[in-house]
Amino acid sequence: MSELRFDGRVAVVTGAGHGLGRSHALSLAERGAKVVVNDLGGALDGTGASTGPAAEVVELITKNGGEAVVSGDDVATPEGAEAIVQSAIDAFGRVDIVVNNAGILRDRSFGKMSVEEWDAVIAVHLRGAFLVTRAAFSHLKEQAYGRIVNTSSPSGLFGSFGQANYSTAKMGLVGLTKTLGLEGARADIRVNAIAPIAWTRMTESLLPAEFEARFTAERISPLVAYLAHESCETSGEVFSVGAGRVARVFVAEGPGWKQDDHTAEDIRDNWEAIMTEQPYLTPTTLGQQSGASLKAML
Ligand code: NAI
Repeated sequence: MSELRFDGRVAVVTGAGHGLGRSHALSLAERGAKVVVNDLGGALDGTGASTGPAAEVVELITKNGGEAVVSGDDVATPEGAEAIVQSAIDAFGRVDIVVNNAGILRDRSFGKMSVEEWDAVIAVHLRGAFLVTRAAFSHLKEQAYGRIVNTSSPSGLFGSFGQANYSTAKMGLVGLTKTLGLEGARADIRVNAIAPIAWTRMTESLLPAEFEARFTAERISPLVAYLAHESCETSGEVFSVGAGRVARVFVAEGPGWKQDDHTAEDIRDNWEAIMTEQPYLTPTTLGQQSGASLKAML
């Protein structure tokens, strides 16, 4: 079996100073990609900044014979996002891959969540992915090639107590992934998302101690490498990944219940049928969904 190589390709990995991003950057570099190692280098809640962690990753890549540069810019500002992509152009002349991975946490139960806590988390995860992708997109379109991997989360897909800001951002990334998958298709820009579980500084206080050895960041990076590779033609999909297991996550619509001119009482009385899952549809575009729904409605 041939090895998946990235020779000649340039990757931007955001939030690559620690955890998952660090592992993705090392793995892509080991497979021949030139990498922009971006990290603001702050604390888990996004406060503070340092280029130390990103510089360490670059040093490690260089020591292993790879090529990488540091970007200490903030994904959450238009100037920072432009600067991150510009680092790739300046150092390596192009950009092919964007791994949107940077993230922070400001957990708080909804009733106590401040506007600032909401905004800060949405800004890094959702706005950051939008801004960095936007900065790269014109380059990708022009060269008619690109691979984008967004980092969603089971918290967004399924909900998580105390994480209204984070789960909203992470589900927002699913919408971005799906729409960009459609808009990028003609220019061979494939866009997918991962929903990982791994032992990092973000999760070490939440996961049971016995997870540390099995839920490693290194067990997330092979999926990212495949989704970032030119041989991957899949787009607009989301994958659950952790501890060596990978699964497609999909949004499905149940068969539904129908009665013309129904009342609220009819809804109540047919709730079980409305909630039924099987047989479900898994439309991959709005066109497919509305086509199928219209057929069931008419
Ligand atoms: P981490 O805290 O080790 O890594 C996040 C990195 O993003 C840090 O190095 C941080 O400095 C950087 N960062 C934060 N704000 C930034 C900004 N504005 N600009 C540039 N860099 C910034 O955490 P981990 O676990 O590696 O998280 C990586 C991604 O994976 C995040 O998006 C996280 O939400 C997501 N994720 C992680 C899960 C896990 O189980 N570890 C579960 C689901 C999602």
